[in-house]
Amino acid sequence: MGTLRDFKLEVYFGRHEFSAPHLLAQSDCESMTVSELLEFEPEAEQRLKDAWLGYTEVPGDPELRDLVASLYTTMDGDDVLVHTGAQEAVFAYMSVLLEPGDHVISMYPTYQSLYEVALSQGCEVSRWSLMDMGNGWTLDFDELRGLLRPNTKLIVVNTPNNPTGYTLNEEEIRELCRIASGQGINIFADEVYKGLDLDGARRPWVADVYDRATSLGVMSKAYGLAGLRIGWVASKDAALLDRQLRFKHYMSICNSAPSECLAVIALKQGDRLLERNREIIRGNLALADAFFKRCGGLFADHPPQCGPVAFHRMNKEVDMGEFCEELVRKSGVLLLPSTAYEYPGPYFRMGYGRRNFAESLRVFEEHLTEQGLVQRG
Ligand SMILES: Cc1ncc(COP(=O)(O)O)c(C=O)c1O
Repeated sequence: MGTLRDFKLEVYFGRHEFSAPHLLAQSDCESMTVSELLEFEPEAEQRLKDAWLGYTEVPGDPELRDLVASLYTTMDGDDVLVHTGAQEAVFAYMSVLLEPGDHVISMYPTYQSLYEVALSQGCEVSRWSLMDMGNGWTLDFDELRGLLRPNTKLIVVNTPNNPTGYTLNEEEIRELCRIASGQGINIFADEVYKGLDLDGARRPWVADVYDRATSLGVMSKAYGLAGLRIGWVASKDAALLDRQLRFKHYMSICNSAPSECLAVIALKQGDRLLERNREIIRGNLALADAFFKRCGGLFADHPPQCGPVAFHRMNKEVDMGEFCEELVRKSGVLLLPSTAYEYPGPYFRMGYGRRNFAESLRVFEEHLTEQGLVQRG
């Protein structure tokens, strides 16, 4: 394995996330205290107190795996492997599947580990780029077909996408799987934002459609419970899942017992949590819509189709990295610049899953007014 370059987004958040007072870029939905979660069911508190603090089962707690499997239409508990967050799962999957010289196609822009781990392993990575259509984002499947090579081993998608909010619809998922199956290519589908379908459509998990697909899920994002560090992969590819389990022996070995217990409690009430978070996002999107109107033509609004983040364009030639650094220094508002995605152009990510969004947005607007970028209303 070669060098892993800095994870730009995580380095940026590492500098600001716990000091900036107004977080306007976060991708995880509103969280809660342990006490609040324990109020979800009468036996929950006792259940946590009774949790045994020995080693846990390497593939994950059986009840948790069954609950995760029930989110899918074709999975059972044995098709699920629990990991420490989504990030460990990404690293384990790429490590067991890929070899130097393999060709990988990755949706782009996206969360850096989804292509960076492959690069560090000596793979060639082609970017399947989302295109800015002015009023939203789109993907070209002919472009994907054109990127295929005889040694293409893996296609990586992130849907709903971080940062654009672009989400494959059911027909696109089926098309993607048809393209991959034509050449026996694996798919890694990072679906950590699944469950935040703002349009009410119910899209399948990619691993329910294609045997060589692996779906990545997590408690961090749509459920707002990042502190649990509980993620998972689900796949019908039992051999690959087993190799990933053996790789986990070299990583966390097994998951935290209290976290698995709390994840079970949360998933039993999963629909309630998702509905709460969709409501927060919908409310914040309405506030943002009015904000963008008040800003005149300063920004191109690109609302997400699903998920808690959007990638907005500033209609001004600015260095987005510098703009965001100055913003956080002067006003304490944290946005995520396109530079964190190695993406050209004046874009920034905004997050819609937090309850204090209105206040953060107000401070952002105040800053824009002070800078003379927006007229005082
Ligand atoms: C698309 C995507 N995948 C994976 C992760 C990692 O998730 P976790 O923090 O739960 O490990 C993130 C976190 O931001 C993400 O946005």
